[in-house]
Amino acid sequence: MKIINNIVHMQALAIAPEREGRRIAFVPTMGFLHEGHASLLREGRTRGDVLVLSIFVNPIQFGKNEDLDRYPRDMERDCQIAEACGVDIVFIPTAEEMYPPGFQAGVAVRDLSLPLCGTSRPGHFDGVATVVAKLFNIVRPDVALFGSKDYQQLAVIRRMTADLNMPVEIVGMPIVREADGIAMSSRNAYLSPLERQSALCLIQAIRRARELFAAGERSIAVLMKETVSVIGQDATAVIDYVEFRDGSTLQELEVADDSTLLALAVTIGKTRLIDNTVLGEKL
Ligand code: PAF
Repeated sequence: MKIINNIVHMQALAIAPEREGRRIAFVPTMGFLHEGHASLLREGRTRGDVLVLSIFVNPIQFGKNEDLDRYPRDMERDCQIAEACGVDIVFIPTAEEMYPPGFQAGVAVRDLSLPLCGTSRPGHFDGVATVVAKLFNIVRPDVALFGSKDYQQLAVIRRMTADLNMPVEIVGMPIVREADGIAMSSRNAYLSPLERQSALCLIQAIRRARELFAAGERSIAVLMKETVSVIGQDATAVIDYVEFRDGSTLQELEVADDSTLLALAVTIGKTRLIDNTVLGEKL
């Protein structure tokens, strides 16, 4: 497994497989890898001849008062997981090289970036789209894999790739959950044992909505009331948003169907957690 820190070096390594017709599979991450990332890497391994993982805590997708400085990092462990998943190249660029003085270009996916996390994290998806576009130009993947826990991120990246004719196949992978149902996230590391218990309210709310939907309930007003009330039972949980939206356009709805997305963002203590489900799909 090669570890590459330099952009030109990474680009040079990407050109050889391209010329030889070998496919590059790419998993972009911010590190502190967990089983969710490992599932992307294992799938990537089956879809490409060369598997590239990037680890880069992207400063431009964090707001001023967010957790950029304390975002968890463990490069040694990440490299062990990468090696075990069959990664060929780990690309770990520096922020100085990614964003040198004078940097000012950017990619914005307008409408899809506005609701849900875009409302509480203005500019976040511009930062994501921009870094993913840069990483695609550096790694030159044929296929890139992303987790569905960041549902809106995946929608933004799919739109960007289609709209800008990027020759990359985007693969969305199912959410990987802990045994008790909590969605895996690097940010779970922030939770104290008590907060970890409170964090269960997200999956409990999702289960309740799914249960009602399975029993035939289609009114978003009713589904919303029930979902919010499950979260409300935990005294420490603060709702950022609970939204039922069209699974492709992310537009608001009044009536749910199989492709309706339920997306949640809830703060427990100082940690903002997100989760989601598509009502007609398997959890
Ligand atoms: O999902 C993430 O870890 C990040 O948002 C991504 C896609 C690697 C861009 O920094």
